[in-house]
Amino acid sequence: MIERTLSIVKPDAVAKHGIGKVLARIEEGGLEVVAGRFLRITRAEAEGFYGVHRERPFFNDLCTFMTSGPVFVSVLEGENAIARYREILGATDPAKAAPGTVRALFATDIEKNAAHGSDAPETARIEIGFFFPGCELV
Ligand code: CMP
Repeated sequence: MIERTLSIVKPDAVAKHGIGKVLARIEEGGLEVVAGRFLRITRAEAEGFYGVHRERPFFNDLCTFMTSGPVFVSVLEGENAIARYREILGATDPAKAAPGTVRALFATDIEKNAAHGSDAPETARIEIGFFFPGCELV
């Protein structure tokens, strides 16, 4: 099934000059980049985007990290894009991420984990709308 998913190259990976390397893995992995923005997320945006984690102990720190520097947000499209991109990223906890994955290469720890990928079709739809509202994707 052709799907779309939201990718965020997080401030840690951007600071390590990882944008191009993440995009290369996306493209070599058979996914298309169909929209992209380079921006600095505001506190309100971070709190909104990660709203489902509001009650978690790491919520405040996570929002501080996500606003600590610019991020590269993009929409990816392809066959099983949601699961495919999560394979490319590796496990959320970089200590458990397979060798060669984005998180194994760029992540510091489970919070500063280099990149985000949507986890399901419904969250992908919401997350894409969050950063690309009403936008016709190419
Ligand atoms: P992400 O894929 O962006 O989705 C939620 C984020 O919360 C996750 O990546 C991590 O950055 C962060 N996160 C998840 N679990 C933990 C945890 N146990 N401690 C700190 N941060 C976490």
